Amino acid sequence: EFHEHPEDIHWSWEGPMGLGVFGGFDKAQLQRGFKVYREVCSSCHSLKRVAFRNLEDLGFNEAEVKVIAEEWPIEVPAVNPDTGEATTQPATASDRFPLVYPNEVAARAANNNAAPPDMSLLAKSREGGADYIHALITGYEPVPAEFPQDRVQESLHYNPQFHSLWIAMPPQLSDGLVTYDDGTEATVDQMGRDVAAFLYWAAEPKLEQRKAMGLGVIIFLIGFSVFAYLAYRKVWADVK
Ligand code: HEM
Repeated sequence: EFHEHPEDIHWSWEGPMGLGVFGGFDKAQLQRGFKVYREVCSSCHSLKRVAFRNLEDLGFNEAEVKVIAEEWPIEVPAVNPDTGEATTQPATASDRFPLVYPNEVAARAANNNAAPPDMSLLAKSREGGADYIHALITGYEPVPAEFPQDRVQESLHYNPQFHSLWIAMPPQLSDGLVTYDDGTEATVDQMGRDVAAFLYWAAEPKLEQRKAMGLGVIIFLIGFSVFAYLAYRKVWADVK
């Protein structure tokens, strides 16, 4: 009874007037969302299915992607002969985002016994998609006065968007947390929208190609129907 529903946001890919066949991604928004992921979420959440060069979709050029990739260390098979530890080297454009933790146990140990989920498909695997991600990350609230004391979970954080109301992830966003390169004001709501849009792209990077293909198919079918009708008229013209 304390749960709240995500706000229904009109996303760029939902198209003008909700005409889903038309809408595409807003690259400026995706770049802002990536900035939030890079500076905030990536310390706990991996993005293992996305390769750095996929970021060219967002409008970054090759040189920019190279600089971004180099921020992430990748483990290489060779073991350091002096220390016995795995060696790392900076990622390149063809690498995927590396894992944040080597395994589930390490992930839980670092996060109050709850592993931060990989974000590659999060916008597709959770009901509500981008609306849910935005709502959850901006949805932390003080515990309502009427909330039963015996259900309060001291070590977790109250969030009426979360299925169990109490989430291990602490609140992440505060106004002005990042500085956007395009001058957009970084309010909590804005960052929540941008990172949700970025994660939607991550989960469905081929959305625009898929829609363009669908539109092409529809136009072809309309054209073909007109042609078939005219051919029918011509073939049967003399038959009484
Ligand atoms: C879970 C978003 C940053 C730790 C989640 C969930 C989302 C999310 C959507 C999944 C909720 C679900 O399972 O339905 C974000 C975003 C971030 C961010 C957008 C950046 C703006 C972080 C950071 C940490 C973190 C920096 C670590 C300090 C966790 C943990 C969970 C989680 C531990 C699992 C919570 C549980 O199952 O109780 N996050 N997160 N997150 N996140 Fe984050």
